[in-house]
Amino acid sequence: MSKLKTIPRVIISHAPTALEPMPQLSKVLNRRLYVKRDDCTGLAGGGNKTRKLEYLVAAAKAANADTLVTVGGVQSNHARQTAAAAAKFGLRCELILEDVKGTPKSDYYKNGNVLLDTILGAKIHWLSEDTDSSEYSATLMAQLTSEGFNPYFIPVGGSNEIGSLGYVQCAREIAQQIAQQTIKPDHIVLSTGSAGTQAGLLAGLILEGLDIKVLGICVSRPAKQQVELVTQLLEKTLILLGLDKSLAQGKVFANGDYYGVGYGVTTDATIEAINLCAQHEGLILDPVYTGKGMSGMIDLCRKDFFAKESTILFLHTGGSQGLFAYQEIFNTSN
Ligand SMILES: Cc1ncc(COP(=O)(O)O)c(C=O)c1O
Repeated sequence: MSKLKTIPRVIISHAPTALEPMPQLSKVLNRRLYVKRDDCTGLAGGGNKTRKLEYLVAAAKAANADTLVTVGGVQSNHARQTAAAAAKFGLRCELILEDVKGTPKSDYYKNGNVLLDTILGAKIHWLSEDTDSSEYSATLMAQLTSEGFNPYFIPVGGSNEIGSLGYVQCAREIAQQIAQQTIKPDHIVLSTGSAGTQAGLLAGLILEGLDIKVLGICVSRPAKQQVELVTQLLEKTLILLGLDKSLAQGKVFANGDYYGVGYGVTTDATIEAINLCAQHEGLILDPVYTGKGMSGMIDLCRKDFFAKESTILFLHTGGSQGLFAYQEIFNTSN
């Protein structure tokens, strides 16, 4: 019996999110393709962080916090959802937003997620590319405490073993939905960054006794480093659930061929993936995460890495709000 039910949680997500077929894309790529719509978790535009925040906000409340502090890139979806969760639970929110080298700049600092952060009432701390965000975070936490606040720090992407529990929940949902719809996915594909989504999903699948291969498409670092990051967090999550950490062995797979030059910088294949999904499924991806993840899935179908007629479930983790900060990478003249 896992400890999941004993860990404090607040309910935020509109769950279960839909798990639905992608018939047009399936024809194009000659595979049975499904999508799990975690872009529709419901909090200020939705996305994967909402599920993590259910456990992180519960932990913050248990610590009597009055302020959520977190850190991310300027267009962080995690920051936007944290600002929204803070507003929903009557907390203050301070966001430490780091500039990202190589990103398109005309709308980057004002539109997309930043616009929503502002509307949601978060206080933004702007960091240049070369400022050490860990040092800045520690100083800000100490300063807030000295001013009489009780701040709760959420790590980048909400990725610690508490946040990962949100994806243990998601795996439970997937298990129920594929049983109801009699679908047998051979693979789940997702975009992987700070690692909590993949680690939580794997822990949940282990808990459900479901042997589905999960492939993380890296958005920011080479596969070897990503596998290490996910494995460490998976082990911690298993321990928190009262399970043996050795269950992580042989479960973590990542592909580092699709992130291009680095985090936040789109590739041509990202743009192709965004256009393809929009024009064949009416499905809107994002330029930083799901566009890259989908570009990997498309290429791995085309290369027959995924066997013909195999069943693949793409986990849509959200982020389309970021598109409005990236409009200049699309040809919008027609
Ligand atoms: C839209 C979107 N997809 C995927 C991810 C990656 O999830 P994780 O950081 O848990 O690996 C993020 C993280 O910020 C995200 O915003």
